[in-house]
Amino acid sequence: MLQDHLISAAHLSRDDIEAVLDHAAAVDADPDLVRGRHDGRVLALCFFEPSTRTKMSFESAMKRLGGETIDMGAVDSSSVKKGESLADTVRVIEGYADALVLRHPSEGSAKLATEFVDVPLVNAGDGAGQHPSQTLLDLYTIRENAGLDDLTIGIMGDLKYGRTVHSLAHALTNFDARQHFISPESLRLPRNVRYDLHEAGAQVREHTDIEAVLSELDVLYVTRIQRERFPEEREYREVAGEYRIDTDTLAAAPDDLTVMHPLPRVDEIAPDVDETTHAKYFEQAHNGVPVRMALLDILLGGDDR
Ligand code: CP
Repeated sequence: MLQDHLISAAHLSRDDIEAVLDHAAAVDADPDLVRGRHDGRVLALCFFEPSTRTKMSFESAMKRLGGETIDMGAVDSSSVKKGESLADTVRVIEGYADALVLRHPSEGSAKLATEFVDVPLVNAGDGAGQHPSQTLLDLYTIRENAGLDDLTIGIMGDLKYGRTVHSLAHALTNFDARQHFISPESLRLPRNVRYDLHEAGAQVREHTDIEAVLSELDVLYVTRIQRERFPEEREYREVAGEYRIDTDTLAAAPDDLTVMHPLPRVDEIAPDVDETTHAKYFEQAHNGVPVRMALLDILLGGDDR
């Protein structure tokens, strides 16, 4: 699958994941390994939704590989504003680049886009669907801090609209991981994701309170309530601020608990947690560069796979 596009974490095998993570670790240890390898190649950044981490870390990764990036820019300043379809947009941009990174508000948009391009395409978030390159850096961070087998992970917050959650949950079915999902009833994992996890034989439990499971966890993955995806602001306000952790919450956690968050955060992790040894979310964001360097290198064929 990594020879082609990266659309969903559900398509990733354990071998695929380990290939990226091992390559990222080698790049992290010695960036000279790949320096200049993609000299003259161009990565197109097509972001129809806001981004800081994903966009900038892909840009940094491509430049560190020796390549360059071109950026579609804000939707309002592109021809999307004139009514150009996604199909036409990516069909044109693939002629300007060797690979595409696409973020779009519609679930399924990345898969649709692959029908119109031949160059590798990475799904950088399709609505509430998937965000698989985020998952690769999440797994890298988990592997570095807690290990990926015999893992007990709590995934908390907006499990309904959180695309990083859907991707991570799928990818973890490749490992010996017990997954605890903690959310208000209205933001449970979508039925289709629960079905996929069940079919994959995943060890899954659902909770409404973090206290029920906190003491068992190796990793706590906290997510933002995705305000922009709620059909009604009223529904958002009913759950906003409910799932928040601070140092008092973590008093009952194991000493070696790893706390992660894909970021951006709003108020779901209090700033006092940042100063504890639990906090790994900035390290997680920084891991986006070596992991995306490894991913791009593989997709562009630079590692001779
Ligand atoms: N984690 C993540 O996708 O962040 P951005 O929205 O800033 O890209």
